[in-house]
Amino acid sequence: MTEFAAGLDGVAGADGATAEGAGTAGAAAGEVNDARAAGAVDTTNADAETTTSTAAGTAPGASTSDVYRGYLAQNPVLLAPMAGWTEVVFRSICKIYGSGLTCSEMISAQGLAYDNIRTLKYLDINPQEGSAVIQLFGSNPQVMALQASRIEELLGTKLAAIDINMGCPARKVVRKGEGSAMMKDPQLASQVISATVEAVSVPVTVKFRRGFEHGCETAVDFAKMAEQSGAAGCCVHGRYSKDLYHGESDWGVVGRVKDTVQIPVVASGDIKSSSDVFECMRQTGADAVMVARGAQGNPWIFLQCREIREHSGDAGDPQNEVPMEERIRVARFHVEKLAERDPRSVVHMRNFFSQYFKGVPAASMYRGMVTSCATIDDFEDFFDQMWNASLTHGYQKVLDADPLQRGAAYEDLEHWAQQLREFWDSEN
Ligand SMILES: Cc1cc2nc3c(=O)[nH]c(=O)nc-3n(C[C@H](O)[C@H](O)[C@H](O)COP(=O)(O)O)c2cc1C
Repeated sequence: MTEFAAGLDGVAGADGATAEGAGTAGAAAGEVNDARAAGAVDTTNADAETTTSTAAGTAPGASTSDVYRGYLAQNPVLLAPMAGWTEVVFRSICKIYGSGLTCSEMISAQGLAYDNIRTLKYLDINPQEGSAVIQLFGSNPQVMALQASRIEELLGTKLAAIDINMGCPARKVVRKGEGSAMMKDPQLASQVISATVEAVSVPVTVKFRRGFEHGCETAVDFAKMAEQSGAAGCCVHGRYSKDLYHGESDWGVVGRVKDTVQIPVVASGDIKSSSDVFECMRQTGADAVMVARGAQGNPWIFLQCREIREHSGDAGDPQNEVPMEERIRVARFHVEKLAERDPRSVVHMRNFFSQYFKGVPAASMYRGMVTSCATIDDFEDFFDQMWNASLTHGYQKVLDADPLQRGAAYEDLEHWAQQLREFWDSEN
């Protein structure tokens, strides 16, 4: 782990537009309703023949699909886009820990068209990420095309690809016919994809679900339509829109899509551990996988996957093994970088915090305490206290202790934690 903790120093501060921090992107993520099978569709731009000479070591003149495949071949374990979570600092941390291509939170094309400053901030890409994917959502082909081309002009080589979100189930998105509602209108979806493809030279990919209405699987036809409309790749989340994020994600549908289209296919849904990563790729034949909730507060999942890939070994279950000091280092680093970009955004660390310290001794007490942190100084103070505690009161000792001895070590820690709580309350 230490090798990577040192690497954190490489994450630059602000670069380009300032980031919003971990707020919610163009739309919140929740998810909702209503489907029909993808029928016959207008096809334009067949076979993703748009060419480009950018990135990933792909030969000049390669198709966008080849370029995208090149990115996935370099590293097939990607951080999934998550509104409210995958802001630029967290993405950079995941990249340092070994994630493949990173992707912005979803951004409203209409919001960009209004030059909404808040929306523009989501276009920030850190040099640490190299180039990254920007995800757009919208249902107006002209608006999508224009905004995609503006983004390409603005970001230049920092832009790896444009991804179109056709999977978001949030009510406020679906109500406007955007996100997963596009699965109910494959003809319009095709127009959106082909207009976007024509507007940019980078790969355009599409992320969608198993289908819209529960039980009505349309993903295979939808993938065919996307490919015929010029998409360079697709990502399939194996839940229906109606399922939101509940229930099991079906990896079978990813395999069915993979068997049908030629463009690279990325799997999403229920990838919570490194063994899920490899099992999903084995079962589905997918070219890559996206880690979503499994990466919240757990950038170490990428480190473990990388270790497995490089040494073909089993590195165990990462989050349980992460030393307390390492968690503090990463969380502290995260909040410091948020503060450099926008001091108001540090409050978002409260959410990240509970994920970084999930399952550690006295976690719930710490979660309670962190709610009184509002400024970077509060957080610095708090992390100092945690750091000292970790060294002198031995969190690691608790984690390392023989299970039979753990009770005593834990009691000592709880006692100390209680004192800290009292001190903290008296100061705040
Ligand atoms: C809080 C949250 C926010 C999300 N935001 C986005 C988003 O902005 N764009 C997107 O394509 N998918 C988004 N997703 C969906 C994920 O990328 C992923 O497809 C889904 O969570 C399934 O993976 P999982 O079961 O491993 O979490 C979001 C998911 C969550 C939990």
